[in-house]
Amino acid sequence: MSKLPAILVALGLATTAGSASATVSGDPENGKGVANLCVACHQADGSGKHIEGGESWPRLAGLNASYLAKQLHDIKDGSRASPSMMPFVNMLDDQKIADVAAYYSQLEPTSGEGGNNADEALLKRGEQLAERGDWSQYVVSCKSCHGPGNQGAGDVFPGIAGQHAGYIEAQLKAWKEGTRKNDPQDLMGSIARRMSDADIHAVAVWLANQNTASN
Ligand code: HEC
Ligand code: HEC
Repeated sequence: MSKLPAILVALGLATTAGSASATVSGDPENGKGVANLCVACHQADGSGKHIEGGESWPRLAGLNASYLAKQLHDIKDGSRASPSMMPFVNMLDDQKIADVAAYYSQLEPTSGEGGNNADEALLKRGEQLAERGDWSQYVVSCKSCHGPGNQGAGDVFPGIAGQHAGYIEAQLKAWKEGTRKNDPQDLMGSIARRMSDADIHAVAVWLANQNTASN
């Protein structure tokens, strides 16, 4: 601690670190402290929880930091409605949002829950939607945006492989019903509205069984 700043000055990094930038950069160390507010639901390892028949808590561990920060801002300004999250995001300023997003993004991703005991036909249908899409319904594959293995692509398309089935299903239904509409250009809404509830369930269960990747 006492030595570090001198090294940064010597390397010319101390000045750039303090200069104004368009986005607030997050410090995972500070974010760890902020995450004390979140462990009751998202768990100490960021794994969240699949809650059968209830509101699942999404896994945050290993998700892209910019994506997480965007969601926190959207929930705070009301463009993504979440009564469960609202009281907690209201305690966070821009710096704390950046810090806690940086913290969760560097945690080791954990496995998706809620995909056990699914029958073969359901999994096959889920795989088709995720990997190849279904042109008879005008549904493109999830991986065409969410990246190879549906493990995420850049800051905009979050990893959905290894997310909890209950959370994935709830999000797709929220887009279908128009209660979540914070996606750019209605990209998710236009897909979810073309999916039956059975297909939403199938793809959620299949994705929960897939491997995650860290960003
Ligand atoms: C009372 C339980 C609870 C607490 C405490 C909580 N969350 Fe959440 N969180 C949820 C639920 C439930 C959702 C899903 C909301 C929805 O369905 O839109 C969520 C969603 C999120 C998302 C969106 C994830 C995604 O993949 O889009 C982020 C990011 C998040 N929470 C971060 C936090 C942070 C950071 C804290 C602590 C400051 C926190 N949460 C505290 C329950 C909680
Ligand atoms: C045309 C591009 C596109 C396609 C195809 C697509 N998505 Fe998405 N998806 C997005 C974008 C963009 C977001 C981020 C929305 C935001 O910023 O809130 C997203 C977010 C999500 C989320 C929320 C993740 C989270 O952590 O909250 C889920 C779940 C999801 N998509 C599931 C699917 C499934 C399942 C499919 C295939 C049936 C699919 N998506 C196909 C663009 C796409």
